[in-house]
Amino acid sequence: MRSTVRMGVLGCADIALRKVMPAMEEAGNIELAAVASRDPAKARDVARRFGCAAADGYDGLLERADVDAVYIPLPTGLHAHWAGRALAAGKHVLAEKPLTCDHATALPLVDQARTAGLWLMENYMFLHHGQHRRVGELVAEGRIGALRVFTARFGIPPRDASDIRYSPELGGGALLDVGGYPIRAASHFLGPELDVVGSVLRMDPARGIDVAGHALLSTPSGITAELSFGFEHSYRSRYSLWGDQARLTVDRAFTPPPDQRPLIRIESGGRTEEPSFPADHQFRNVTESFARSILQNADYAPHAAAITRQAELVDRVRAQARLVTA
Ligand SMILES: NC(=O)c1ccc[n+]([C@@H]2O[C@H](COP(=O)([O-])OP(=O)(O)OC[C@H]3O[C@@H](n4cnc5c(N)ncnc54)[C@H](OP(=O)(O)O)[C@@H]3O)[C@@H](O)[C@H]2O)c1
Repeated sequence: MRSTVRMGVLGCADIALRKVMPAMEEAGNIELAAVASRDPAKARDVARRFGCAAADGYDGLLERADVDAVYIPLPTGLHAHWAGRALAAGKHVLAEKPLTCDHATALPLVDQARTAGLWLMENYMFLHHGQHRRVGELVAEGRIGALRVFTARFGIPPRDASDIRYSPELGGGALLDVGGYPIRAASHFLGPELDVVGSVLRMDPARGIDVAGHALLSTPSGITAELSFGFEHSYRSRYSLWGDQARLTVDRAFTPPPDQRPLIRIESGGRTEEPSFPADHQFRNVTESFARSILQNADYAPHAAAITRQAELVDRVRAQARLVTA
């Protein structure tokens, strides 16, 4: 039985080069086998840098017998096409978030993976940082009392005008790019019965995409989630769980650097406590978790359910939104 998964990388994306390929090099159960690019010279450069093979384009990468699994960091609108092609070629798939632009596209992909006995994973890396497990433990210990409200914000400053996030054809827009994080975090803490009550999306009519948004969700018992996201904000990456006894806040919640200790604060009355937890490496953790799931033939059902529920919630935020332009 193999002890490592041989990975191929489809596209020399910024996130791949800066975070995920270095994390794969560090992971104990992954071998970087090959990388592909639309530009053969770029593939050769990156292959040299990471000590792997340069594949003959995206199709060539999928045909390689020395690749067990494919990482897809392409623009969002291309994930579904290439994930489907990779699964059809018998490869497990780690696709960047969001896996698809809508629920109708997510369902058949998840079914394709299940039927083929392959892992198809959506790369919400933050879930693989230990700080959220610690938060769950603190809440279960009663440190905030009964949970009343979950709030989450993920906003980034404007990007370069040529960025893939501004292209409707490539699956751009703030809801798909940054909005998915607070939605996924809300589901993580409030469970699968969470549903959308209402939303606002701020549109950029010249580009034809949404650049910011806000959503209100609720569980059947009325625990609410209030979520904000966008591309026209000073940087913010934070969530809070507000209970009847205290409020717990996590800063750098979605993008904590591997060497930074978690920034967790519990406020109650006039007192503030900052419990100390070790730093963690979500980029390495997620790649190791993906490979472990394959090597140990893990149960795919919970992950499949999370992918499809996330796509459903994103659809509902979009469908119910009051659209504003400014
Ligand atoms: N999980 C996370 O923390 C995280 C963080 C950032 C981004 N992401 C996700 O990762 C994906 C890529 O984001 P990024 O910022 O890394 O993007 P990027 O640097 O623009 O990379 C996208 C890559 O896709 C390839 N590509 C194929 N067709 C393309 C086209 N028509 N236009 C542009 N590029 C094309 C290019 O690689 P070649 O030229 O080599 O073929 C390009 O380098 C997005 O889905 C994003 O949401 C996830």
